[in-house]
Amino acid sequence: EKGGYDYFMLKEIAEQPKAVADTLLGRIDAEGSLTLDEVRIPAAVLREAHKVVIVACGTAFHAGLIAKYAIEHWTRIPCEVELASEFRYRDPILDQRTLVIAISQSGETMDTLMALRHAREQGAKVLAICNTNGSTIPRESDAVLYTHAGPEVAVASTKAFLTQLVACYLVALYLGQVRGTKWGDEIRAVIRDLSQIATQVDQVLETMEPVRELARSLARKNTVLFLGRHVGYPVALEGALKLKELAYMHAEGFAAGELKHGPIALIENDLPVVVVVPSPRSRSVLHDKIVSNIQEIRARGARTIVIAEEGDAAVEAYADHLISIPQTPALLQPMVATVPLQVFACELATARGNEVDQPRNLAKSVTVE
Ligand code: F6R
Repeated sequence: EKGGYDYFMLKEIAEQPKAVADTLLGRIDAEGSLTLDEVRIPAAVLREAHKVVIVACGTAFHAGLIAKYAIEHWTRIPCEVELASEFRYRDPILDQRTLVIAISQSGETMDTLMALRHAREQGAKVLAICNTNGSTIPRESDAVLYTHAGPEVAVASTKAFLTQLVACYLVALYLGQVRGTKWGDEIRAVIRDLSQIATQVDQVLETMEPVRELARSLARKNTVLFLGRHVGYPVALEGALKLKELAYMHAEGFAAGELKHGPIALIENDLPVVVVVPSPRSRSVLHDKIVSNIQEIRARGARTIVIAEEGDAAVEAYADHLISIPQTPALLQPMVATVPLQVFACELATARGNEVDQPRNLAKSVTVE
């Protein structure tokens, strides 16, 4: 049932191109517009929404953090992202014009369920993004957009995450479409780019041997840090979470701009630091800033592991290890940048003799608060 792979996680990582393609299937029409008939929240309600609030836990929360950039950029609706476990305890401001998006692979996460119940009690509309048909979270929501990742068995989420991102982009673009924002052409262009992503994920998967080798060489390290900016920041958080849960290593993700406000004190000789570099084409200011961040940490002895777009010549001189990913539009980069981090964590866990599919102390769905 593992289809020839040693672990479900490896199988599920490999299934990502298909999971991504399946999640787009039937949702883009011949004109290149979106048809999300399942989202039965009336267009009028979506047009009136003045705020989006995303609630989720763990990896799904990281998908939500990335969604915020897309939603605010494409629709200009303010978007908040909150850990489901914190949400209802701070008396959040919600009303009929708030669209709440609950993201959950299992559809049974109690923290997320309690958050959406609270939101609905306050009159907000709730849209679930979920991978499990007929589970509790979609049943209790006003509408659901299913991710089509197929069953995810490994405790660490991989393919579900990529499909959650696809669903988030679709919702963001759909909101832009029904609200007729001035970004119409841009929306169609992004939909075209999104259709290429499955192939690009496949390309990444084909070049992972050096990443596995690198992971094995780091098996005796205690700490790995992850840096990113813009949508690369949640990718850094996700890379760190994968390493914690699978390799049981101390791993932390930071916004690269925060380095000088404290974390740079952690840098010491030969400390592995993974840096997710934004595209030099569409985010050139951020790109330049992150290149200086890489120089700063390298000058202090860090071993730099740099994830950058193909053809990004500026980073080569400062990368002790360079992991190339295909060129994508800035907002879609997490789809390809996350994959090497999944492979990295899985291989490190194996090298450390850990149980990959069933990490200690963790359960696949967390049905207690
Ligand atoms: C991390 C992981 C967890 C889940 C979280 C939410 O690899 O699997 O952090 O993402 O428990 O679970 P769902 O998406 O089922 O609500």
